Amino acid sequence: MQILRNLTEDLAPAAPLDPSSIAFGKTFSPHFFVADYRNGEWAGARIAPLESFSLHPGALVLHYAQEVFEGMKAFRQPDGGVALFRPEMNARRFQASARRMAMPTVEEGLFLNAVLGLADADHAWVMEYPGSLYIRPAMIATQPYIGVSSSNEYKFFVVTLPAGKYFANHDPGPGAVDVLVAESMVRAWPGGTGNVKTAANYAMTLQITAKAIAAGLSQVLFLDASPERRVEELGGMNVMFVEDGGLVTPPLGGTILPGITRDSVITLAKDEGIAVREYAYSLVELIARVKSGQITEAMACGTAAVVTGIRTLCFENGLRLPVGNARGRGEISNRLFEQLQGIQYGRQPDKFGWLRRAASAQS
Ligand SMILES: Cc1ncc(COP(=O)(O)O)c(C=O)c1O
Repeated sequence: MQILRNLTEDLAPAAPLDPSSIAFGKTFSPHFFVADYRNGEWAGARIAPLESFSLHPGALVLHYAQEVFEGMKAFRQPDGGVALFRPEMNARRFQASARRMAMPTVEEGLFLNAVLGLADADHAWVMEYPGSLYIRPAMIATQPYIGVSSSNEYKFFVVTLPAGKYFANHDPGPGAVDVLVAESMVRAWPGGTGNVKTAANYAMTLQITAKAIAAGLSQVLFLDASPERRVEELGGMNVMFVEDGGLVTPPLGGTILPGITRDSVITLAKDEGIAVREYAYSLVELIARVKSGQITEAMACGTAAVVTGIRTLCFENGLRLPVGNARGRGEISNRLFEQLQGIQYGRQPDKFGWLRRAASAQS
């Protein structure tokens, strides 16, 4: 499908962007992509100046949360060009999320043209290292209908944001955060929607996340709903541990998001000769192995956080358990972080073929 381009004249930011002062999620670049689904097909695809759109108060998304989204990044390359990291993985996950939420899928070619075309249009907003451009594709149900059913009209849109550090108060250099272990709440269960990216999964985490933030913590670590309370993932990232020098991460059992960073870190670890085991610790095992020193590192992995060390596990009863002697990322976490960022910013050979250039983007 042809994507119309209607770009503003002011393509670059008025003043140079500084990754250390741009808060995550608040500054938008000047263009967006939008297309509408009606009568069984996508139409009207365009990249245009960012504007608000109007919705009927009865739009299904506002009542029954029929929504899916993605999160991905574009990185400034040494030659001034711009590259996206494994965007076809996001395209496929967007399709899987849409199927689960009874929504039409966006064909991979249209998704890729939308995100690459937008990164190209707003390439002046892709900051140099350690900054990047965060890309947020989303799809919402727009049919006005107050009845619990799947919509017959949708909007697919993409906005982009220059991204500095994700965790306020935490330097992405040494990078380590404290997390709250959620014992009183679960975010996913077998047969639910934990393995797709839909708004409701996040809405239900807001209450406990607000508690964590009020206690000075950065993220929430969720456990499954089984009596053993096995470790699942963080509110917006997958979790990994280092035990006896090997990487341990929960398996993709249908209740956690198949993270693209997770997949990449596993690939990099295997390539580095680090053993990888997919295993979900029970809460009792996790506490025992952190206390005994068998688990030496913990890390949060995701597009926004890249690889961030977990310094302390905090519990709802106020107890705090330091992981290893982490002041920042541990040794193995840091190795994997450097490898991943090296590829993303084009400083190391792209040996797995993960980067996709935004066509004509130049600095
Ligand atoms: C719940 C959850 N888990 C894991 C991830 C990490 O996924 P990715 O590495 O694809 O960003 C995210 C972020 O998108 C997330 O929201």
